[in-house]
Amino acid sequence: MCTVLFIIPFVFRCRVCGRTLTQRTPFQRLARHMQDILGNGGIRKEVVREGEGPLVPRDASVSVHFSGFLEYADQPFESTRGSKFPKMMKLGKDVTLWGLDISLRTMRRGEFSRFLLQPRYAYGELGCPPIIPPGATVLYEVQVFDYLDSAKVDEFFALSLEEQNLVPLSKLLSVVETERSFGNHCFNKSYYEDAKDRYKQAMMLLRNREPADEEERKRVEEASLPFLLNLSLTYLRLEKPRKALQFGQSALEISPRNTKALFRCGQACFEMNDYEKAQDYLTMAQARKPFDTDINNLLRKLAHRYNEELDKEKHMCSKMFSALKFEK
Ligand SMILES: *[C@@H]1O[C@H](CO)[C@@H](O)[C@H](O)[C@H]1NC(C)=O
Ligand SMILES: *[C@@H]1O[C@H](CO)[C@@H](O)[C@H](O)[C@H]1NC(C)=O
Repeated sequence: MCTVLFIIPFVFRCRVCGRTLTQRTPFQRLARHMQDILGNGGIRKEVVREGEGPLVPRDASVSVHFSGFLEYADQPFESTRGSKFPKMMKLGKDVTLWGLDISLRTMRRGEFSRFLLQPRYAYGELGCPPIIPPGATVLYEVQVFDYLDSAKVDEFFALSLEEQNLVPLSKLLSVVETERSFGNHCFNKSYYEDAKDRYKQAMMLLRNREPADEEERKRVEEASLPFLLNLSLTYLRLEKPRKALQFGQSALEISPRNTKALFRCGQACFEMNDYEKAQDYLTMAQARKPFDTDINNLLRKLAHRYNEELDKEKHMCSKMFSALKFEK
């Protein structure tokens, strides 16, 4: 066998490795191709797909999929893959595994990487029986879809309610705007649950505010309006038209002839098969914006649906009558 190996030097070298390799465990073999990110061998990384842009910052909210594996296991002991949308997780809070937190901060938008975590960066010498045995090295596959820098919002949330009320309104409004951009961002990525949570959190901050005077009350009210509309649309996407209608109506309480609010209420009623109410809302919206394509399209759809329903009823009637005739 050795003679064969001598003939092909490359294979020879490989085969020599091979001999030692066969004595290595799968994780040890993996580790050989990985980058030692801390310089102490505690966390090793292999980039599967490069990301782009700056690194995930400390305290960011990251939308991420990850799965954790033990050595020799085909199935992960932990995975976010079961959920339809990637999780939005906050570093330093939702990400409880120290090594995973550090790992995430070496990643960029869109990146997919593997990390091998030594026990002290994972579950320690004690492990987490019965799932994680003592002293286990674990492998994480991590995919970062996106992240948002949330330090400003965090600072605000760290304040007590009283303190929140003492900060200038402009500061509250800027926090709320950040929440909105988070929400819009999640919405845009179709993470409607996360978007809804963001908008709701912003609404809560606005509702908690005790206005110092009438002018401030008006400004808070004005600031709430877009969130109510955002929430209405988000609930439509979540297929919860009843909630969508509620928020649309709340928006109308602030701004009774708001076209968007009328349209959202119309959409919600349409989804709930309440065609008459939908018609009312939509014609009011149309009166204010006669050339809006969305409004006109939905009105057309409504008319179409309405006729279909009529036809169905007619059809049922004629069937009933023919049945009656038959019985005679
Ligand atoms: C939504 O995403 C698209 C592309 O993915 C982008 O062009 C657009 O600006 C985004 N909108 C918002 C509000 O983030
Ligand atoms: C939320 O409201 C803002 C301001 O009206 C708007 O620009 C944004 O497109 C809305 N996003 C959603 C998802 O409704």
